[in-house]
Amino acid sequence: MAQLLITGGAGFIGSHTCVVLLEAGHSLVVLDNYSNGSPEALQRVASLVGPDGARRLCVVEGDIRNPSDLERAFHAAPAGAPVEAVVHFAGLKAVGDSVNDPLTYWDVNVGGSRSLLAAMQRQGCRTLVFSSSATVYGFPTQVPIAETAPVHPINPYGHSKAAVEQLLADLAASEAGWRIARLRYFNPVGAHPSGAIGEDPLGTPNNLFPFITQVAVGRRPVVSVFGGDWPTQDGTGVRDYIHVMDLAEGHGAALEHLLTQGDTLLTLNLGSGQGHSVLEVLRCFETACGRSIPHQIVAQRPGDTAITVADPSRAQQVLGWRTQRSLRQICEDGWAWQRANPQGYRP
Ligand code: NAD
Ligand code: UFG
Repeated sequence: MAQLLITGGAGFIGSHTCVVLLEAGHSLVVLDNYSNGSPEALQRVASLVGPDGARRLCVVEGDIRNPSDLERAFHAAPAGAPVEAVVHFAGLKAVGDSVNDPLTYWDVNVGGSRSLLAAMQRQGCRTLVFSSSATVYGFPTQVPIAETAPVHPINPYGHSKAAVEQLLADLAASEAGWRIARLRYFNPVGAHPSGAIGEDPLGTPNNLFPFITQVAVGRRPVVSVFGGDWPTQDGTGVRDYIHVMDLAEGHGAALEHLLTQGDTLLTLNLGSGQGHSVLEVLRCFETACGRSIPHQIVAQRPGDTAITVADPSRAQQVLGWRTQRSLRQICEDGWAWQRANPQGYRP
């Protein structure tokens, strides 16, 4: 079992991954500045894993761009245990904000990653799992999308992820010993089946799933469906929705692989390989929550694609990992979270 550093562990994907990694017996230091995460999420992680797991969770408030915060995090483990690997979630993820404020996106996502990698080098830690995104593919030329597809991002958020991917490739080529996984997530949704942790976006959600859950719980009146005229089976956009617990388990598998097999640079899609349209997600969620979800078709959102679906076969081949949970389970678990926490982590 390893001592790990988890950046952004108080966020949506990070908190679920903390549960999986603690349940697997690892010890964690979480570094988070709470810009989009919550200390309450980590308290709930600690409750979910019980006293033994909670003892292996240590939390440091700080910023990945600040070398002294990183230094504190690398030395925060009880009894000074050295960090063997880093799982790097910390970053900004709103496409629209990235268009309006590219400097901040490059600062946090690229500058923050650079500063983390420099700290890893100083500490002699060379094993990293990085949160990349299907957004690096831009407008896909072929679906399902394999990892060999061209990297051609179309917005500053995507550029920042592609830049870090390139930096990681350069680093792996520069010096022996680096073991890096670049994980390209498709559409992470759902919540822990307990309903204790889930997605809690600040302000108006940018993404479909949290928008639906907030309409279902009465926080918002109606879901706007962005386009009914896409070249898809029902005219609405198709995506590869992946249950956040499947995604969290994918991180566990990637980490295990790096720590035991020692691949230098691994690039993997994490998706289900199944596409679902916006209307399908809405109908499935209506069944899960037993309510009708008001929705209206509006104009397409600029920058959207008709269909984005992963070819996840490489992850299955290399890690022996594949998604286990259906869209129905995604909707049931997402509803359990939102119903129990109508205002998210806020009282
Ligand atoms: P999130 O915003 O819920 O979590 C990110 C966490 O990082 C938050 O807790 C936030 O407080 C923290 N953070 C941000 N900037 C920081 C900084 N400078 N220093 C320390 N902590 C900082 O997002 P998420 O959905 O959990 O996404 C995690 C990662 O996965 C991100 O890098 C994101 O770009 C990537 N990703 C997310 C999606 C998605 O749809 N959710 C898809 C593909 C990739
Ligand atoms: N959609 C709506 N109404 C909404 C929000 C979204 O109809 O209110 C539609 C979109 O047009 C799209 C689908 O729902 O067809 C999914 O949209 P999301 O905004 O939930 O997700 P995206 O596929 O646009 O992007 C997400 C993340 C990106 C990440 C990408 C990876 O936001 O950061 O998945 O595939 F890179």
